[in-house]
Amino acid sequence: MRRKLAAGNWKMNGTGASLSEVEALIAAHPDPKVDVLLCPPATLLERMSRLANGSAIATGGQDCHAAESGAHTGDISAPMLADAGASHVIVGHSERRDDHGETDAMVRAKAEAAHRAGLVAVICCGESLAEREGGLTLDIIGGQLAGSLPDGATGANTVVAYEPIWAIGTGKIPTTGQIGEVHDFIRAELVKRFGAEGEAIRVLYGGSVKPSNAAEIFAVANVDGALVGGASLKAADFSPIIAALEEA
Ligand code: 13P
Repeated sequence: MRRKLAAGNWKMNGTGASLSEVEALIAAHPDPKVDVLLCPPATLLERMSRLANGSAIATGGQDCHAAESGAHTGDISAPMLADAGASHVIVGHSERRDDHGETDAMVRAKAEAAHRAGLVAVICCGESLAEREGGLTLDIIGGQLAGSLPDGATGANTVVAYEPIWAIGTGKIPTTGQIGEVHDFIRAELVKRFGAEGEAIRVLYGGSVKPSNAAEIFAVANVDGALVGGASLKAADFSPIIAALEEA
């Protein structure tokens, strides 16, 4: 019932030369059975969006400001992302929360700005290693969801990404049991707050997803796809992840 989503977050990687990877991806997946999204750095967004126009690949930003315009040097607003061809924006990634001190309230304001601009907000949550080891994972996730998701979240305008911080870029991934526990919890929290729309909001797993572990992760209940970092940079890595999701 929920259409699956394979999303790539290029983070601070990629120049014009990297667009050849997008060409390869478009050629390999002319008609995918799942949604495919790439979130390049802002410098590439418009070029990538033009390249992907008419293909099955959607594009998104990696962050947006909560305001529409103004004196915010270096920031980019949600309407600007939409103007550059984006349909989605990631908000509240743990690297933004850590590097830029973003709080749940700030993430929520960014998600609201995304919705006002007609963008799908991909809202990230995830626990640190210390929090997991302290048995706090579900408390942390519950708090982040409550604080970061706008009241107007629906299946059409919001995606949740569960990204345990200790699994990002480390090659360590939770067991499928641990992933399932958190995804079931997120689903229950979404349904509690949003009713039927909570059933429609997709929940992605992120953190060291690779071609070699994708199928196992996608077999877990309430995993509606992945938010992939490093393995989304090369078509040769991202393509088999898309294929694994199509088969899940
Ligand atoms: P990696 O896939 O490189 O671990 O990154 C995950 C992530 O943070 C995606 O947003």
